[in-house]
Formats: sequence, C-alpha cells, structure tokens
Amino acid sequence: MTFEKKNLSAYEAMYEAQKIAYAPIIFQAVRTLRDLGIFTALQNSGPEGISIEAICESTNLSRYGVETLLETGLSCGAVELTENGSWKLSKVGYFLQNDPMTRVNMDYNHYVCYQGLYDLDKSIRSAKPEGLKVFNKLCDADWETIYQALPYLPEQIKTAWYDFDHYYSDSAYPAALPILFRNEIGTMVDIGTNIGKFAILTADYNDDVKITMIDLPDQLENAISNVARAGYSDRITALSMDLLDPEIEFPPAQGIYWLSQFLSCFGHKEIVHILKHAKAAMSTTSKLYIMETCWDRQQHEAAAYSLVNTSPYFTCMASGNSKMYHSDELLECISEAGLEVVNIHDNLGICHSLFECQSAQLQS
Ligand SMILES: C[S@@+](CC[C@H](N)C(=O)[O-])C[C@H]1O[C@@H](n2cnc3c(N)ncnc32)[C@H](O)[C@@H]1O
Repeated sequence: MTFEKKNLSAYEAMYEAQKIAYAPIIFQAVRTLRDLGIFTALQNSGPEGISIEAICESTNLSRYGVETLLETGLSCGAVELTENGSWKLSKVGYFLQNDPMTRVNMDYNHYVCYQGLYDLDKSIRSAKPEGLKVFNKLCDADWETIYQALPYLPEQIKTAWYDFDHYYSDSAYPAALPILFRNEIGTMVDIGTNIGKFAILTADYNDDVKITMIDLPDQLENAISNVARAGYSDRITALSMDLLDPEIEFPPAQGIYWLSQFLSCFGHKEIVHILKHAKAAMSTTSKLYIMETCWDRQQHEAAAYSLVNTSPYFTCMASGNSKMYHSDELLECISEAGLEVVNIHDNLGICHSLFECQSAQLQS
C-alpha cells in the first residue's frame, strides 16, 4: 500500500495546504456538530433538510453557535446547504454521525490525543511522550508511559482509549483463534493481555488450554477480576512483569506466545529485547504469534491513512519511541531476535496481520 500521488494544480495544492493548516479547527467544529446534537437534528430532518431556526429549537443552541458550526461543516463537506436554504447531512456527515469506527477514532483523537499532541515537536526531539504531562497534571501523577496511566485515567479518557483499542483487536480475535488452534496448543502466554479479553475468549474457544496473562501489575488487576467474573480463574493465571526490565523471564516451553497489538507499544530496540527473551523461553515446538496492524499491508488507503496517523499518538502520548510499524521493520526485529516467520496471515478483522514465528535454527 502506497499513498496515491495526486497531480494538483498550484491552486489545488494551496487549498490542500489550507485544509491541513485548519485541520485541528475543522476537527473540533465537526466533533462539536456531532456532540451538540446538530448532526442528529440534520439526520432526523426529511429529504428537504432543516432550517437553522428549527435546529436551534431542537438543540437549544443559539443561532450564532449553530450557524458558525454549520458553516465549517459546509466547508469541509460534512453538511450541505440546499437551494431553498435548508441544511442536510452529507454522505461524509452520515459516516461521522453513524459509523462506529469513525466515532471511536474521533473520540480517541479528542479525549486521548488532542491536548497532548500540541507538544509533538518536543516529543520528536526528546523521544519521550511529552504530551503525557496533560494527564500527569490532571491526575497529579508522574507516569512515564500511558500504559502505567491507563487504569487511573478519568473515565471519559479511559473509555475512549479502551474503545479504540478493543474496536480493532475485537474484530481480529475470532479470525485468529482457528489459526492458533489448528493443532492442540496446551498452554499459551498472552503477553500484554490488557484487560484479559483475548485470554477469556481463548478459554471460551478451547476447553483445555491453560493461559498465563502478562502485563504491568496495575493493569493486571482488571484482567484478574475479569477472568474471575468469567469463571476461568482455574485455567487463566496472571504474571505481572515490566517488559522493559533488562532481565525478564517468560514461562518456559509454552505452546503459544501471543503478542497482540503489543509490539507497537515499543521502539525497535525494546521489541528485539522482548522477542529475544520470548525466544529464550520457547521450546522446539513453541510458536510465537504477533498480531499487528501494519500500514503497508492494508487493502485500502483509508486504513493505511488511519494507521500512519495513529503513530504520532505513540510518540507524544504513549512512549515516545513506538509506532504503527511498516511490516519490513517488524520483520527485521523478528529476525534480529533469532526468530523466523513461517507464515503471515493478512486481512484478519478490520486491519490486522498475524505473523507466525518459530525459532530460526529450527528451519535449517
Ligand atoms: C495496546 S494494548 C494491547 C492489548 C491487547 N493485547 C489487545 O490485543 O488489544 C498494550 C498492552 O501492553 C501493556 N504494556 C505496555 N507496556 C508494557 C510493559 N512495559 N510491560 C508490560 N506490559 C506492558 C499495556 O499495559 C497494555 O495492556
């Protein structure tokens, strides 16, 4: 997947440049059109559209406010103005209002990313998530990465983060499970389990598998209570670990080492460090599966666009050195760790690829 090169006139190029220059304002105005119920009023109107007065009445907003937002909406194609002066939702507006993926992305960009991204330039220089200071200040904390912060963030921010994370991984889990269970696996380590969703789904899928969930200690608390609630405490156990520690030890000789939407949380060096330690724990029959969203392996430009533009969140809010990787870089990390890819399954769920790996020396 590459981004299509457009042949633009100088005027068109200048207009495109203004769209970028005004992007933060367009974003906030459109989100406000959605969140203050103006899109709902437009959607509920008939094919003739609705007047500003009627929108003001149904939303309880001033004419000034509604008009200001609608004009921005008109400029970016989210709303349309009919010949008789009434307003309608455009096709783009329809997706902004109704498409769950667009809603999840917009909430995530607003609640999690927007304020912190102001300091992206500082983050690029320091390789630290400088935008995280917004949350540190809000919560009177001193977190170094967003992963330490997650369990403690205010509800709206936390919900936006989890909804974003789960929207994508939830879509791929059901497609990955039959691949993992082509053979009996016996035991699995879910590295970066988050709230234990995949571990529980796996226990639902197979009655015999025993699972160890690994994550940061505070994050694991949620996973442990979710597992208990699901009735799987006998088959799913937890092991807290900071995978950035120089010495880490994974449970040895597991059937599967599972890393989903996890390596994107780290820089190249850290990924190799984690994979090397996983390799050290693997037996000759162990498999290691990496499920990631690589922008170059997407079928649609829209998916690649969203993924590439998620990377600055990783820079400024998450860790300062992580990103949505091109698959070539992940493959380099896998090889540097002494692992070999035996299969790549693309197009799982909305946008995932599954890299099936084993110890490199097994190939010879
Ligand atoms: C993006 S979430 C992925 C969750 C899940 N595996 C999925 O498929 O949606 C990344 C997870 O890695 C964990 N994580 C991040 N840094 C970590 C570290 N240094 N040590 C252990 N876990 C970490 C986070 O707490 C989080 O639960």
